[in-house]
Amino acid sequence: MENGPSPISSDSLANDRLRAHVLDRVQNNSRNSGAHHSPQAIETHLTPFTPTRPSIPVNNEVLDALNDITTTPFENSFLSRLQGTRAAMAPSAIYIDWETVTPWMNLMMDIREHYALANADSEILIPTESTAPITYTTLQRIHLPQVHDLLERVFWSGIDVSDSLDYSPEKATVIAVYKKLVVGVAIMSSPQETYITFLAVRAGWDKAKIAKTMLYLLVSRNPKKDITLHVSVNNSAMLLYNQFGFKAEEFVAGFYDDYLDPLSRASKNAFKLRLRQ
Ligand SMILES: CC(C)(COP(=O)(O)OP(=O)(O)OC[C@H]1O[C@@H](n2cnc3c(N)ncnc32)[C@H](O)[C@@H]1OP(=O)(O)O)[C@@H](O)C(=O)NCCC(=O)NCCS
Repeated sequence: MENGPSPISSDSLANDRLRAHVLDRVQNNSRNSGAHHSPQAIETHLTPFTPTRPSIPVNNEVLDALNDITTTPFENSFLSRLQGTRAAMAPSAIYIDWETVTPWMNLMMDIREHYALANADSEILIPTESTAPITYTTLQRIHLPQVHDLLERVFWSGIDVSDSLDYSPEKATVIAVYKKLVVGVAIMSSPQETYITFLAVRAGWDKAKIAKTMLYLLVSRNPKKDITLHVSVNNSAMLLYNQFGFKAEEFVAGFYDDYLDPLSRASKNAFKLRLRQ
């Protein structure tokens, strides 16, 4: 029977490498110290290396199970231990607000508490609602249906802001989102024109400084540029713009004639406001 080359075990490979390394080191040292030892002389002083740990047989089932893992849920990940289990900021997010509690959030909490109290004795499993921040982000295509719905409820029908996605949305748009619900919209025509076309907050989410935050983010993303807008003369948003330092520079009679419903209580006359920066 012919003997072929025996398979090289990883232990003997490690032994050979270690032996070569030690030989190298000893020869270098002896050269530096002026002494001379032949490789054969050194070899005789070397005792063979035997691994101290016996190799553990591989459990293929465990190996397969490990190979099957493709992702780790964020809640179970090492990163979540470092950062906390709150979801990481989305790349388009500008600002995350965990503090604000809006009238709508309060109402929902009251309803849930009431329901829990009313069913305290029953065996119904009461679902718990996770809290989430209000996230300020730039306009994404996914927001468009909700943005149009919100703007049409607040202003007039037929509003389409899809082309804002083509004009530097990272500078000219701010959207406030709670979980997947769009609760506020602030849009500028473009970073060149810096004219605010729409500012609106969903009913039930107002008076919680969402408009103020959106306006602040929009202004700070367009520094050193005057910002202009038109506002109906009897709109309470005038107070908000005043707080930012907007000043009226023009009175435009009938500005909203073509847009507002004739029965609307909002004045059709507008002020053109300017924020000098
Ligand atoms: C105007 C509007 C955007 C305000 O949104 P909001 O999130 O409630 O506003 P904020 O909570 O950020 O309010 C900021 C400031 O605005 C003023 N303000 C806003 N709404 C007000 C109201 N109804 N009455 C009195 N003051 C008001 C307040 O001075 C407030 O500051 P303060 O809380 O420090 O006193 C919102 O009511 C809305 O969507 N209105 C309909 C659309 C509209 O008119 N947009 C403006 C077109 S130019």
